[in-house]
Amino acid sequence: MPIPKAELHVHIEGTLEPELAFALARRNGLTPPHPDVDSLRRAYSFTDLQSFLDLYYALMDVLRTEADFTDLATAYLDRAAAQGVRHAEIFFDPQAHTGRGISLDTVVNGLTAALNTSEHTHNISTTLILCFLRDRPAAEALDTLHQARPHLEHISAVGLDSAEVGHPPEKFTEVFAAARDLGLRRVAHAGEEGPASYIWQALNLLGAERIDHGIRCLEDPDLVTHLAATQTPLTVCPLSNVRLRAVPDLAQHPLPALMEAGLLVTVNSDDPSYFGGYVHDNYQALHTHLGLGAEQLRQLARNSFTASFLTPQRKAQLI
Ligand code: ADE
Ligand code: ZN
Repeated sequence: MPIPKAELHVHIEGTLEPELAFALARRNGLTPPHPDVDSLRRAYSFTDLQSFLDLYYALMDVLRTEADFTDLATAYLDRAAAQGVRHAEIFFDPQAHTGRGISLDTVVNGLTAALNTSEHTHNISTTLILCFLRDRPAAEALDTLHQARPHLEHISAVGLDSAEVGHPPEKFTEVFAAARDLGLRRVAHAGEEGPASYIWQALNLLGAERIDHGIRCLEDPDLVTHLAATQTPLTVCPLSNVRLRAVPDLAQHPLPALMEAGLLVTVNSDDPSYFGGYVHDNYQALHTHLGLGAEQLRQLARNSFTASFLTPQRKAQLI
């Protein structure tokens, strides 16, 4: 059985496997996104973050009903349980659905129909992280936050994702302050493709408590010192970084350097259906391509619980 771990960086829409996409297209009477599953999988060849996001947003058009979102979450839980996940903090992208006429109620009710019972059905505790699309206006993010108010019992945090370069965190300062006032925790994608200065902005302007990706922090020694001193977690996604060409190959991935610098590093899958592996596959790739040993992998798994939004009591039970 894979080592018990938490997953802190997984986009539920990024767990949509081609087979399920075809099944949902059929169920909803839609033209399939590609002639067949194999040709769709062959399209999973990306040159950068934007080339992935184009396909990611297009394919999620098959998600239409509450049952579709329930099936998506159930399929993720099945895979996550087999990968040793005991706790998952799951991103979702409301604006990617409301922008095409699917209500936030449909999305959250569908997801939570599966997630509310996940401890019982899969031995995995779960919570949702509502992500704002950073390439959309800040006013739309604020409106999304207001729409989410009836659902806050299922949502522990807000996040920031989508196309990073040219969309600095500072644009969302007011939205993140409003989220804090609602009692929500805060995380943000930063330093995936964007510069180290975006990580500083996420910390100082958004109050981000974790940085998603964050690998480009290594370009700023003062930032590395700060992240180490504050033990601000990074949710690193090795297979994603290679597939989106943020890193040339796994053997050159900066994860060992981040660990050696004393940072609180965690390992995650990001969009596992698109990037060739779920969370434990990422741990295994670190062993195979970077020679990480059993003790280092155990440390990364411990870090995943430490970096979670679980209570100290629950962390102590799981670590
Ligand atoms: N949305 C889904 N996956 C993402 C990623 N890796 N970076 C930014 N936004 C995303
Ligand atoms: Zn991500």
